[in-house]
Amino acid sequence: MSWKQPRDYASRPVAVLGAGVLGRRIACTWVAAGYTVHIHDPSSEQRSQCLQFSADNMAAFQNLITCTKKGEVKVFEEIEPAVKEAWLIIEAIPEKLDLKVSTFATLVKCAPQDALLATNSSSYKSSEIVISLSESGKRRAFNMHYYMPPANMVVELMTDQFTDPEIFTFLSSRLRETGALPYVARKESTGFIFNRLWAAVKRETLMILSEGVSDAKQIDELWSEMFIKGKAKPCEAMDQVGLDTVAFIESHYIAERGLPSTHTTDFLKKEYVDQGKLGDKSKLGGLYPPEYHAAMAAKSTDNIPSTMIALDTGLSLLEPSLSSGELLILGPKDTKPKVLFSSLAIPDGVAIDKSTSRIFWTCMGVPDKPDGTLSSSALDGTDLRTLIAPGTINTPKQLCLDRAAQKIYFSDREGCAVYRCNYNGTDLEMLVKTGSPSAGNELDHCVGIAVSPALGKFYWTQKGNSKGGQGRIFCADIAGASSAPNSREDVTCILDKLPEPIDLEINSTSTSHALYWTDRGELPFGNSLNRVALDDGGIPVLEKEDASPAQFLVAKHFNEAIGLALDNERGKAYVSDLGGRIYECDLESGEREVVYEDVERSFTGIAML
Ligand SMILES: *[C@@H]1O[C@H](CO)[C@@H](O)[C@H](O)[C@H]1NC(C)=O
Ligand SMILES: *[C@@H]1O[C@H](CO)[C@@H](O)[C@H](O)[C@H]1NC(C)=O
Ligand SMILES: *[C@@H]1O[C@H](CO)[C@@H](O)[C@H](O)[C@H]1NC(C)=O
Repeated sequence: MSWKQPRDYASRPVAVLGAGVLGRRIACTWVAAGYTVHIHDPSSEQRSQCLQFSADNMAAFQNLITCTKKGEVKVFEEIEPAVKEAWLIIEAIPEKLDLKVSTFATLVKCAPQDALLATNSSSYKSSEIVISLSESGKRRAFNMHYYMPPANMVVELMTDQFTDPEIFTFLSSRLRETGALPYVARKESTGFIFNRLWAAVKRETLMILSEGVSDAKQIDELWSEMFIKGKAKPCEAMDQVGLDTVAFIESHYIAERGLPSTHTTDFLKKEYVDQGKLGDKSKLGGLYPPEYHAAMAAKSTDNIPSTMIALDTGLSLLEPSLSSGELLILGPKDTKPKVLFSSLAIPDGVAIDKSTSRIFWTCMGVPDKPDGTLSSSALDGTDLRTLIAPGTINTPKQLCLDRAAQKIYFSDREGCAVYRCNYNGTDLEMLVKTGSPSAGNELDHCVGIAVSPALGKFYWTQKGNSKGGQGRIFCADIAGASSAPNSREDVTCILDKLPEPIDLEINSTSTSHALYWTDRGELPFGNSLNRVALDDGGIPVLEKEDASPAQFLVAKHFNEAIGLALDNERGKAYVSDLGGRIYECDLESGEREVVYEDVERSFTGIAML
């Protein structure tokens, strides 16, 4: 007979037996989730304290979840009326085995046949408590162990060896409604999962203390450094260390202390090491499967701790060359950058797609030679792929991503063009051709690029002669035809006569759009960070009086400003320059702070991690 969830459970009460410290808290978690809770306690004092507690503390439980239904708590002196309609009965009476056994026997008599029967006991297995129950009673009974809600919402569930496994699926969903975090033990055990972990920690801690190896303060400090600040987790850490090494270390303790090896070295050897599962370093994974390690490696760049990816052209080195560029992960101030890739041929544009965990970047190669490249790797630098090999494009510069469509857009400076391709480099399309590469006209040189799916447009800069005051910003439609990239009718020049505009970024929200760009032109307006507001058509908002665009100089005094990245949440922009600096700019005040500086580097593209 298959298990059926209790009928009409949403309109039936949850019963809690015992209005003590934990019982009343358990009751509040269900009331907050909109359930009626019946609390039974023979002591009138406990019952009234329980009502007071729930009145005083209900807000804290409600804050854990969003629930519009209003539950209520009712107290009962007798057990029978408390449980007779209940779909879930949680026994939280004092830890006395005979008392618990007789309570369960009573429950089977007076509670509905479909009610779930839980004991909060941690020292007795539920199989000991349900001893007098029929098999059908045992199938509905289990341990359900709370810690201290609302501060700690972990709930561990454990079978009495007969419990129908579907109960745990159903109950875990109900528990999540209350804001609880359910963990289901796979089989019966003396002590819940967390109890046992904690037992091991206590045991070894006491041994260190009793041998006089350390003191309480040192132990707690070390714990906090390693496990709280260091965020080490037992199974991840063992996979990292390597299970062969873990077994080796464990064998010393086994020998010295005369311990059994069944559950440690023998288990590791048989289930993992002998099967070639050694942890992070092996293709087959370890305690975790290989997919888990791949996902963690991709994520770990986020907590190196790092903030930004930056490209260094390599041209400021004491002995510069055309292939000494680097792709760096910059951590917090005063930490050493992590070099992800070196020997790059003048890298220029970089962008990150977190949903696919990929970095994309361009390398210019030698200007005027068709040796530019587009590459991609995972966030941790693995799985390097060349998307566009030398031979096709000339001098790829900034690139940007249409993340929803999974398209890469990039400008080609000496190639006088704007391109688009897939994340894997296929379907390369020339979107716009601004001139003939052989003419060598810098007015045709495309440099920066930005795409706004919200506006249906992409934007690019044509910088003009160095410091020439002939810089322009153009836009065209994402959906526009590219069959004749040199004569598109939807190309619009939105800004003209700029000192020398370089990289672009767009901040598009549902209510407003702004275009930002760096400019490496001449003072007073060059070497600056600029912004213009765009209307719903993606065109600059014009100022009322002279119908000129409402252009705004955000910050200036950069040393050949190139790279640009926006932190939209914090309202900050980051600018990099060829002088080896990266600045954080406040968009309101225009104040800037140097967040990274190295005179032997010259930065181009940057991207927020
Ligand atoms: C079960 O609940 C009772 C009543 O609040 C409490 O006294 C007891 O300590 C709880 N047992 C466990 C193991 O949490
Ligand atoms: C490249 O990506 C496109 C678009 O996602 C896909 O249709 C195509 O099959 C991929 N090609 C290769 C060779 O992976
Ligand atoms: C982007 O626009 C939103 C909405 O106007 C604003 O809150 C946010 O600060 C902007 N971010 C930047 C970098 O301009």
